[in-house]
Amino acid sequence: MRIIIGENYDEISKKAALIVAAQVILQPDCVLGLATGSTPLGLYRELIAMYQRGEVDFSKVTTFNLDEYYPITPDHPQSYHYFMYQNLFNHINVQPENIHLPNGTAEPVEAECSNYERMIAAAGGIDLQVLGIGVNGHIGFNEPNPYLHARTHLTDLKEETIKVNSRFFQSEAEVPRQALTMGIGTILKARRILLLASGENKAQAIKKTVQGLVTTECPASFLQTHPDVTLLLDREAAALLG
Ligand code: GLP
Repeated sequence: MRIIIGENYDEISKKAALIVAAQVILQPDCVLGLATGSTPLGLYRELIAMYQRGEVDFSKVTTFNLDEYYPITPDHPQSYHYFMYQNLFNHINVQPENIHLPNGTAEPVEAECSNYERMIAAAGGIDLQVLGIGVNGHIGFNEPNPYLHARTHLTDLKEETIKVNSRFFQSEAEVPRQALTMGIGTILKARRILLLASGENKAQAIKKTVQGLVTTECPASFLQTHPDVTLLLDREAAALLG
């Protein structure tokens, strides 16, 4: 694992944008795996600014998002679909037909999951996957459990995740109890992985990810088995690394 520590959130957001932009410049038709949550917001803000300055062109890029709540309609303000359009896609020149997110209203859900896997494979696989991390060590919505799913699947959210994510909803009761997510194997198949973490509430999960045993109780620890992972951390998120 390559670990890069920045002073603060702004610094890691700028560095993350440079890494993503470099990927797109080197390989204009690359496949990006994208994440939601508050952590990548700074990265997306920087990418939009770079696009506006004419420094990066997304016209040939294909994107696959990690996850989506289930059930949720794409126009729901807390859907990851809505989030991605609001915070990135509406402001850059990625082509609508090249944008993919799991469909939070799909029926039957198993067909949606296998189709998502097929589409990723048909696009040639993910070149660079951006990840955040949950306070409990989840990546995408692969929650700590005695087992993990390898491929895209429907999953039950943990109570702690529902609580943490309720800050974006009117109330905790409104948070969907399930989600569609790429599996741990889907994520590990990406050629390169860039995980961002900021703030002291992520420090414990980062310590387990980097220095703990590889265990399904910390899904991010599986990143230790991948040959090309970069962790971009601010000082607070890196505070417990020995
Ligand atoms: C959500 C998402 C994850 C994200 C995590 C952390 O549950 N499914 O992909 O990494 O939360 O979110 P935040 O960046 O807001 O801390």
